[in-house]
Amino acid sequence: MTAHLTALARGLAPPRGFVGSSLAAPPVEAIARASAELWQDPHAALRYSPAPGFPVLREWIARREGVDPGRIVMTNGGMHGLTLAVLTVVERGTTVAVDDPVFPGFLWALEVATPHILPVPVLADGFDVEHLAAKLAAGARIAAAYTVADFHNPAQVSLSAAKRRALIDLAELHGFHVIVDDPYRELRFAGRDQGVAVFHDSDRVIHVNSFTKTLGPGWRVGWLVLPEHLVDPVVGLRGRLDVHTSSVTQAIVERLVTAGDELFDQTVRAARTIYRQRAEVLVDALHQHLPGALDVQLPEGGLFLWARLADDGIDPAELFRRAVAAGVVYQPGEYFAAEPGRGSADRHLRFSYSEGTPGELREAVRRLATAFPGGGS
Ligand SMILES: Cc1ncc(COP(=O)(O)O)c(C=O)c1O
Repeated sequence: MTAHLTALARGLAPPRGFVGSSLAAPPVEAIARASAELWQDPHAALRYSPAPGFPVLREWIARREGVDPGRIVMTNGGMHGLTLAVLTVVERGTTVAVDDPVFPGFLWALEVATPHILPVPVLADGFDVEHLAAKLAAGARIAAAYTVADFHNPAQVSLSAAKRRALIDLAELHGFHVIVDDPYRELRFAGRDQGVAVFHDSDRVIHVNSFTKTLGPGWRVGWLVLPEHLVDPVVGLRGRLDVHTSSVTQAIVERLVTAGDELFDQTVRAARTIYRQRAEVLVDALHQHLPGALDVQLPEGGLFLWARLADDGIDPAELFRRAVAAGVVYQPGEYFAAEPGRGSADRHLRFSYSEGTPGELREAVRRLATAFPGGGS
């Protein structure tokens, strides 16, 4: 049996596509109830939906986002939201600034418009806004900038409140759009929320979110918070592409979140508790079995630990081969490099702690330790 410290391993899974991401605590009974209720009126259940989505669901999301419901457009999950954002604000052949390391799914989405990227390092407080400002001052031109604002995939960090403001100021100064990808925002279990109002107050920001990390990826239900001037273009695009998000899944998700018994908040709270415990177990086990071998920071939320090899003498490719042979997989950092081959992420290992029980995580680390020179302790 292979122990998993990742949801997606190069060479062990298709190079494109997502696996895993099962939820820590799915509200199974409530889902069954909501689904059964839906089929009491099959004609209503199977109707077309308004193109931007179900009004009550959009209102619920809008209240939580602190925006007018007219700015919410439902999507078929976060990836769909990213592609809609790219198709709307990135002209063919222009350049887009992206996180480095980057969530590779965004680069796949970007391929519909352009191969040109400007990699921007992700630091301990997120996207390096000063780096981008220097590039723009030196003459670079971009159509958009892309970043994961909270609990970055893979880099685990969040964009600080000060840098959120600075990024928006830069976008307003230079006239580019910011695509803010935020699927992990609800999963904070430590530290301080850095805020989203600054994004929603700007007409330069497309905010992309989804229920994937809270209610599950299989729903394929997400949403965009759009500036008012982009609502009609995005809804028009939907008319040409897929008309709207499935009425059936929207209706069930709408029932779940508006159930009146705080089901959504309870589900998220339960997930946070489980993820916090798993993150702590993983970091403890790494300190115990591989003392000093990896630079790690305890995550404040999300699903990932972005560990850096402390010893520059270790060959990451050889380590990965030995780890797989020992029966443990993780995601090698190079997979997330904005520009493959430039080495920006290849000293890192991305561990996912969401899916293993504490016992499985400890066992995975014990096996990982045997892959290191000297076999760990
Ligand atoms: C940063 C980021 N954005 C978007 C997605 C895609 O989410 P969805 O399943 O809602 O398409 C993921 C999935 O892992 C992700 O990590």
